[in-house]
Amino acid sequence: MNELKSYRIAVMPGDGTGPEVIREALKALQAAAARCNFKAEEVHYDLGGDRYLRTGEVLPPSVLEELKGFDAILLGAIGHPDVKPGILEKGLLLAMRFQLDQYINLRPVILYPGVDTPLKDKRPEDINFVVIRENTEGLYAGAGGFLRKGTPQEVAIQESINTRMGVERCVRFAFDFCRRNQRKKVTLCGKTNVLTFAFDLWERTFYEVAREYPEITADYAHVDATCMWMVKNPEWFDVIVTDNMFGDIITDLGGMIQGGMGIAAGGNINPEGVSMFEPIGGSAPKYTGQNVINPIAAIGAAQMMLEQLGEDTAGGLIGNAIRKAAARDLKSMSAGKMGYGTSEVGDLIAKYVSVD
Ligand code: IPM
Ligand code: MN
Repeated sequence: MNELKSYRIAVMPGDGTGPEVIREALKALQAAAARCNFKAEEVHYDLGGDRYLRTGEVLPPSVLEELKGFDAILLGAIGHPDVKPGILEKGLLLAMRFQLDQYINLRPVILYPGVDTPLKDKRPEDINFVVIRENTEGLYAGAGGFLRKGTPQEVAIQESINTRMGVERCVRFAFDFCRRNQRKKVTLCGKTNVLTFAFDLWERTFYEVAREYPEITADYAHVDATCMWMVKNPEWFDVIVTDNMFGDIITDLGGMIQGGMGIAAGGNINPEGVSMFEPIGGSAPKYTGQNVINPIAAIGAAQMMLEQLGEDTAGGLIGNAIRKAAARDLKSMSAGKMGYGTSEVGDLIAKYVSVD
C-alpha cells in the first residue's frame, strides 16, 4: 500500500483569541485531510506576546530556520496588550513575511450567502474580488529614521521602497492569478497623481506586464477612489493589485463589506517557498478565553493553505462547509452574536467537511 501523502504544518496560535480560532481551524483541516486521504502533521510553536514577556524572545533565529523546512505555516494572531506596539508586529509577523520572502498578501473579499453586509442593497454577486497586496516592500520596509529625536527640531522620515523586481513579481502574480482563476480584470490601486515616483514605477510595470495578458482588462484607480467604489460599487472589482500600505488599509475595508473581520482570511505567499496563512482581524484581546470569537476567518485561512498546497478538493470542502454554516446556522458573523460559541462553530464546520 502507498504511504499517505503528508504535509508538515507549523502552527503558531499566537496571542489573544489566536489559540481559540486556530483550534477550530485545525479541526476543519484534519477533517478535510481524513476525507481526502492525506496527512497534516502539526508542529506547534508558542511564539507571541506571552513567550516574549517570559523569555524576551520574539523570533529566535533557530525557529526561523526550522520554519523554512515546513510545507506551510498557520498563524492565529499577533498582538498583546502588555507589549509595546511594534515589537511583535515587526519582530514576528513582518519578520516572517520578510525573511521567508512571502511577497504576496492574498486577501479575498467575498460576501457569502446569508451574511449581512453593511452595504445596503449589495448581494453576494456584487462582492466577490481579491486584493493582491505587495508584502515585502513599500512603507513597511523600515527605511527611514529620526533626526534630533525628542527635541522641538525633531525630524522623522519613513520612506516607501519600491523596487522594479518587487513590483513586477507582484503585478505578474496578479495577472497570473486572474488568468488561473478565470477572472477578467486587474485593477492597479495607486496614487499616481501625488506619489509620482513610486506609482510611476508601479504604473509603467503594470501596463508593460498587462500586454502579456491580452485577454485580461487592465484598469487603474487611485486609492481614495478605490475606497469610495468599494463601498458604492464593489461589483466593479475583480482582482486589485496594490502596494503594502494601501493593501493593508483597503483590506480592512474589504473585511467590513464582506461581513466583518470574523470571516476575513489571508495568505502570505511565497510561490517558490513557505507560505503563511492567517485570519486578518488581529488578536482581539478583550474576547480572549470567552468562546465568543468567530473562527471562520481562521478556518478560511486553513482552506487557503490547502489550496496553496495543491489540495483543491480539500480546500473546496472547507469552503463549502463555511458557506453552509454561514447560510444556515450562524445568526451573525460578529463575536458574541453568532448564536453559537467559537468551538461549536468549529465543530459544525468540521462536521460539514466530513459529511456533506
Ligand atoms: C495585517 C496587520 C499587520 C499589517 C500588522 C499587525 C503589522 O494589520 O496583517 O494587515 O499591517 O500588515
Ligand atoms: Mn492590517
